[in-house]
Amino acid sequence: MSRAPLRNPLPTRGPTSANCNPARFVWVASNEARFRLAACAMGANAAKILAAPVTVIVARDMDFADNMPRLAPHAPHMHEMFKNPAFGVPTAVRNTTLQGVYLIIAARALGLDCGPMSGFDPAKVKAEFLAGGNLEPDFICSTGFGNGEGMHERQTRLTFDEANRVV
Ligand SMILES: Cc1cc2nc3c(=O)[nH]c(=O)nc-3n(C[C@H](O)[C@H](O)[C@H](O)COP(=O)(O)O)c2cc1C
Repeated sequence: MSRAPLRNPLPTRGPTSANCNPARFVWVASNEARFRLAACAMGANAAKILAAPVTVIVARDMDFADNMPRLAPHAPHMHEMFKNPAFGVPTAVRNTTLQGVYLIIAARALGLDCGPMSGFDPAKVKAEFLAGGNLEPDFICSTGFGNGEGMHERQTRLTFDEANRVV
């Protein structure tokens, strides 16, 4: 049996629920903005933001359902379903994080270092960078080519047996 050609060999188009694409990305790159973001960070995270050329704010658009007719013409019922907060909120949360993960995996595949962080004040980040929309920060991720200073070796992960159960 022949296999269909790979449609997406690089992790550039990771999936989201019904292709809802709820993540919005703010690339904090200017000196002014990097200092403003560092002021929203907890503890040692401020220095990490200042050391990186770019820190991405991965945010969720809580009005993501408005795009469903364009993004999922194959599933017209999804628009109304995701307008309902009972489905829409967990969908925005889960899929924004997933899209942030795709970003990290893609960046690391290109050889970039990534420092994801959840140690920041979400209300401050929202006020400073996400005003004007219905956006909520999920996590931030510094990226660039690390010089090794203050960087640790990749730590051990749980073994297959610890983290998996085949039933
Ligand atoms: C969602 C998330 C939040 C994190 N928050 C922080 C943080 O606030 N500060 C920090 O120094 N590292 C943070 N980290 C980095 C993790 O500690 C680090 O990714 C983990 O130890 C694995 O190491 P690795 O990135 O070298 O693979 C976070 C990572 C993730 C995925």
